Parts: sequence; C-alpha cells; structure tokens
Amino acid sequence: MTRREPGSAAGGRHNPLRDVRDKRLPRIAGPCGLTIFGVTGDLSRKKLMPAIYDLANRGLLPPGFAVTGFARRQWTHQDFGEMIRQAVTEHARTPFRQVVWDRLVEGVRFVPGTFDDDEAFDNLAATLADLDRVRGTSGNHAFYLAIPPSAFPVVCKQLARTGLAAQGDEYWRRVVIEKPFGHDLHSARELNQVVNDVFCEDSVFRIDHYLGKETVQNILAMRFANQLFDPIWNSNYVDHVQITMAEDIGLGGRAGYYDGIGAARDVIQNHLLQLLALTAMEDPVSFHPAALRGEKVKVLSATRPVGPLDETTARGQYTGGWQGSQQVVGLHEEAGFDPDSATETFAAITLEVGTRRWGGVPFFLRTGKRLGRRVTEIAVVFTRAPHLPFDDTMTEELGRNALVIRVQPDEGVTIRFGSKVPGTAMEVRDVTMDFNYGTSFTETSPDAYERLLLDVLHGEPSLFPVGQEVELSWQILDPVLAHWAAAGTPEPYPAGSWGPESADSMIARTGRVWRRP
Ligand SMILES: NC(=O)c1ccc[n+]([C@@H]2O[C@H](COP(=O)([O-])OP(=O)(O)OC[C@H]3O[C@@H](n4cnc5c(N)ncnc54)[C@H](OP(=O)(O)O)[C@@H]3O)[C@@H](O)[C@H]2O)c1
Repeated sequence: MTRREPGSAAGGRHNPLRDVRDKRLPRIAGPCGLTIFGVTGDLSRKKLMPAIYDLANRGLLPPGFAVTGFARRQWTHQDFGEMIRQAVTEHARTPFRQVVWDRLVEGVRFVPGTFDDDEAFDNLAATLADLDRVRGTSGNHAFYLAIPPSAFPVVCKQLARTGLAAQGDEYWRRVVIEKPFGHDLHSARELNQVVNDVFCEDSVFRIDHYLGKETVQNILAMRFANQLFDPIWNSNYVDHVQITMAEDIGLGGRAGYYDGIGAARDVIQNHLLQLLALTAMEDPVSFHPAALRGEKVKVLSATRPVGPLDETTARGQYTGGWQGSQQVVGLHEEAGFDPDSATETFAAITLEVGTRRWGGVPFFLRTGKRLGRRVTEIAVVFTRAPHLPFDDTMTEELGRNALVIRVQPDEGVTIRFGSKVPGTAMEVRDVTMDFNYGTSFTETSPDAYERLLLDVLHGEPSLFPVGQEVELSWQILDPVLAHWAAAGTPEPYPAGSWGPESADSMIARTGRVWRRP
C-alpha cells in the first residue's frame, strides 16, 4: 500500500494555495459521497444526519453529494430518506429549507444487509459505482463506521474484498472511526492494526468530536497567535492546571454502553488528554497536519500519572439526590446497570508532563456524571506573586491568578486577577475579565460534527488524532485503570455534588483546591 501526503487525491495532498485562499469563499468539498455503517443508530440520527444537512444548507457540499446508509433493516431509499428527514427536523442546527432538502435527498441511497453478508457489500459497491455515474461522485468515497468497534474487522475486510478501500491516482477512499478506540493499550494497537491493514494512516480519520469545537481550536489561536501568554506558559509561572469535563446528566438510556467502560475510558482517554496535549504542547513550526500532530505526540509521550495512585487519583459512583430542583435516581437504580458493577461515573487523576516547560507542574484531570453543573473548562492557575507589599489583611481575599478557557457552555476565556476594592482603604480582591464568543462574534459556531465531516471530505486531517496519539493516551491511563481494577468499588457521591470526598482530599494533599465552576 502506498503512503500519500495528506491532501492528495487519495490521502489528501497539502495544498500550498490553501494558506492564501480567499477566506470569504466558502470551503466547498469536491465531488464525493459518504457511506454510513450503523446508520440507524443514535449517533447517526442525532449528530451525523443533522450535520450533513447543515453543511448542505450552508452550501458546503458538492452539488452531486451522495449519502449511502447500510444497515440490517429492509428499508427502501425512500424509507431511509424519510428517516433522515425526521433526524434533520428534530436535530439540525439550521432551519429546514425545502429546496436544500430536495437536492440532498436525490443523492440518498440505502443498502440493506449484515456485515458478514458478501452479497450486501457487492450491492454497496455497485451502488457507489452507480452514484459515480449518476451523481458525479468521481470514485471519492468516505466510509463512516458508526458501529461498535467489534464490527470494525469484518467491515474493513469487506471494504478490502470489494475493492472499496483501494486508493486510486484519480480518486480517494477514507475511513472515519469513532471512539472508543479500544479499551486499553493492547486493544487499541489491535484496532489500529485492523484498520491500517486496509487503509493507510493518512486515510484514517479518528473522530474526537472535542477537537471539532471552536473553543478547543481557539486554544491554538490563543497560545500561538499572541505574544501575551507564551512567556508565562511554563513552570516558572504556572502552579498547576485543572481540566474538567462535568456533566449534570446521569446514564439515562446509555447504561448498557457505559457499564464496563466508565468515566476515565469514556472521557479522560480521549477528550481530556487531547485538551491536555493542546494546552501543554510546544508551538508547531506550522499548522501543517504533520507538524501539529507531531507536537501532540511529543507531549503525550512525556506525560505520565503521578503516584502513589491511591492518593493521586479518585473515582466514584453517583447516588440518588437532587439535581437542582429535580430528584434523580442513583446509578444502581438506573435501568440496565449491573448493581454490583465497579464502573466509575467520576474519575480524577494527577498527571505530570516531563518536559523543561512543565517539570513539577501537576495537571489535574476530572470528569463525572451527575455533577453540580454541565461545564468543560481548562484552568491554568498561576503561582502567587513572590512578594506582596501589603498588610496580610489587605490581601485576605486575593486568590491565585488564573486563565480559564471555557470550552462549553458559555464559550470564552476568563482571566482572574486581583484588583483594588473601591474605597478609602487598600483592599485587594479577585475580579474577572471575560471574553465571550457570543458577544464578540456575530456568527454562531458550527457543530463539531459539521466541521469534522467537512474536514474528512476535504482530506484535512489536522483535527483528527493519529493512531500513535491514541496508543500514548492508553499508555498514560492503563496503570491507573489497573490500580482501580484491584482496588474494589468506587466511592459513592451524591447527585448534584462535585464528586467523592477522595477527589477533594486528592488535590488538598498538594495544598490546592478544585475550582467550583
Ligand atoms: N451515540 C453517540 O453520541 C456516540 C458518541 C461517540 C461515539 N459513539 C460510538 O459510535 C458508534 C455507534 O454509536 P451509536 O450510539 O450510534 O450505537 P447504536 O445506537 O447502538 O447503533 C449501532 C448501529 O450499528 C448497527 N449494527 C450493529 N451491529 C450490526 C451488524 N452486525 N450488522 C449491521 N449493522 C449493525 C446497528 O444497526 P441495526 O439498526 O440494524 O441494529 C445500528 O445502526 C459506537 O461505537 C459508539 O461507541 C457514539
């Protein structure tokens, strides 16, 4: 299998003109089609179909764009079209427009079958060849595996058998895969091997939807487009970093998926370690995908858990209680959840980044369900000024300076610093200075899946983790997971709180406290 530069006809050639492109021109994908496996699933209905429609509505898809669904039920093309329409009306971000819909639905196809059914895949190949003729998709096809990872090997084999995975000089083939990328280092390596046996790495797009968020991309803009932050972005000035993804919801209908996976595998391994990588990486020489991903690989390979793990990590399971004014059940009362399960719904870990920039600075990562508020943020907390020329009483209410990147909701950046309280006495208290996306920009942000799907169709891989990043993330997390597996049941915490007491003592031992966003 030949390796290609990202952006070439097959893998995506890096286009030097891209950097001088007129930014006012829309970024329309070239002729192509998207085939979705697992098209009847939750992800497809809630995220993929609405994102495809929103892209069409924004005029970013090529005129002959085609969507092909593959699933077990005996649907016609019309049934599938109807399902998409329903998903779009319920979940799309932009308003429904008949003229856009009419054009989109002309390119909709459905192929019924199971993954081990050779005839169904032969039908798929014939359907895509027909689309090349009647819709002008030109042999350019992306395959989205919105299916359980256990089905990846058989689908990849079928794509190889039917020639659908084969790259050509004049056309490209790409595969999109969703988390979970394995459940430990060993399984992640196996999964990467399965996919790489059929698709070269440049044609593999691993979706971590956090990287599609505007605020996450803004970490790069903030750090590398400004002079203000870099001089203090190191262990000389940063005391510690807290990365939080808190959800206020419980498991709901996802108990079957979640049991056995847990908060660390579901969120820390992918989203939070990607946020850490963007926060801690060195500046890339350019925004070329290889340069950007290379820096992320470097920083992840320098990251490891701080021990002893029974003091530097914490995990918990939520119990029933009050979430705001709503009474909610505990994890063990959730339908479909094994009452004896040791799966955690809260996880906190302490990491260190062994580089000159970050030596000695702890990175505290936490995530959980049924916490006090839905919030994702990165808080860079600075050391205290080395000398305060004030009486102690004047600075009693002065905390540490902090820069907080608010990923969601209320996207923006907050800087916290001390200011004089108005009055005749000198009293210094914390104040905040805010940047809000909502007030600074008029256009609303596209959904992460819109951005990422469009990048797949363009062959632009910067926002997709490479296989090595995934494996390094598991390498960081595996010792913690092994420690927890031997440590019994997680500690209970009440719904609506900020996690178990062990999470507070974990950070308190270092003389710090968690932020209460
Ligand atoms: N839901 C999310 O928001 C989300 C977020 C991140 C990642 N993911 C990942 O994305 C993938 C899909 O998630 P989901 O929530 O959409 O799952 P889901 O609701 O359980 O849907 C699974 C899909 O796979 C199909 N499928 C399963 N086994 C099959 C087989 N042997 N032959 C043919 N089709 C088969 C199902 O088709 P039938 O209808 O025929 O059963 C269904 O369309 C999973 O790996 C999940 O971890 C999901």
